[in-house]
Amino acid sequence: MNDPAFIDTLDPAYDADIHAAHRAAREQCWYARTPAGLLLLRYEDVYAMVRDRRWRELGRDALAMAGITSGPLFDWFGQIVSNQEGAAHTRLRRLVSQAFTPRSVERLRPFMRATANELIDGFAKDGACELVSAFAAPYPVRVIGALLGVPPGDFARFHAWSTDLSLAFGSRIAEERPRIEAALHSLSDWADRVIAERRRAPGPDLISALIAAEEAGDRLGGEELRAMITVLIFGGQDTTQCQIACGVATFLRHPDPWKRLAEDPGIAASAVEEVLRYEPAGSGSPRIASEDLRLHDLEVKAGTIALPSGPAANRDPAVYPDPDRFDVTRRPAQPNLTFGGGEHYCLGAALARAELQEALPILARRLGPLAPAGPIEWRRGSLIRGPERLPLRFG
Ligand code: HEM
Repeated sequence: MNDPAFIDTLDPAYDADIHAAHRAAREQCWYARTPAGLLLLRYEDVYAMVRDRRWRELGRDALAMAGITSGPLFDWFGQIVSNQEGAAHTRLRRLVSQAFTPRSVERLRPFMRATANELIDGFAKDGACELVSAFAAPYPVRVIGALLGVPPGDFARFHAWSTDLSLAFGSRIAEERPRIEAALHSLSDWADRVIAERRRAPGPDLISALIAAEEAGDRLGGEELRAMITVLIFGGQDTTQCQIACGVATFLRHPDPWKRLAEDPGIAASAVEEVLRYEPAGSGSPRIASEDLRLHDLEVKAGTIALPSGPAANRDPAVYPDPDRFDVTRRPAQPNLTFGGGEHYCLGAALARAELQEALPILARRLGPLAPAGPIEWRRGSLIRGPERLPLRFG
């Protein structure tokens, strides 16, 4: 086995084409080294790591590495479901899954279609748009807003808070801390107000359902509710926004599948899986070894950080024949790993899938052929990836 390649994940050139970097590294070894630790490249290793309890979520250690060991952001990281492990994590997942059900997602599909059409009505006649601000950002905001029962007047504020909060998952946490904590403060205040309102007057929304969720006399406490609502608002927007933009940027380079999707919305589900596989918005959720262990030929010390990379696993030729080919009718034997796996498998995967399945065929049908109207600006240095600006001409 050759020595692993070094990938400078902090270099903007990496963000410009992560797949090329993974491809080259895979030729050398089953993993790569990065400034943060190990990067797993093979499907079977990524699949195994996200299920291996010896590798826990990096969570607060990510903040400690940026010199943040107390304060609101540190406290929030300690409360959110993604950073809990073992029994505490199972308990939260069980309670939230009583409220956030597949039915609650399915019920929203007509709203998703109406929202997609309404947003497109706003720019269709122009023949051009910047897709992120015109569609990819406002669409998931409205959907998560409807799920939570939020008045539309709050959507713009929501989006701003969520965007600022996403900086907590990037490489500039320390520098951006004041902005992140200001957003967290506003979002938490907002959540407390809404929780109090819904306790008084419950409605047919997810916040009321979370308040009512109960198992064997156990319920979510006030702080737990606040943390859950803030993480759903955050998780429900930025990732989906980036995934829509990743999807449209991919179709921009693949006009035939775009035309096919416009003509046959019946392929929406497989097209969405291919988008998730080919250009995922999530880089994966970093793990830290909680004990000394062995990974293949490698001795790993407790405290080692590793990224089980969804984007790399999704292009592993051992699982996906011709992995760099974008094929919206692909029938893969294994599911893509864009939403992670195991106990921490993305809580919003069904919602994100439904949003993409509804939005992409409507965009394809109503916009028609796409052409670039300027350079695509990709987000830099973040675990949540995608175009920040996607200028398009269409029709
Ligand atoms: C395409 C969009 C999305 C992507 C790419 C994505 C990706 C991910 C990934 C990679 C994880 C970590 C899995 C692991 O640790 O193995 C995760 C966890 C999570 N996601 Fe998503 N996500 C998306 C949409 C959403 C949505 C719409 C919501 C909420 C409405 C959401 C809420 C969460 C939560 C709460 C967790 C933590 C789950 C836990 O630790 O138990 N995500 N997501």
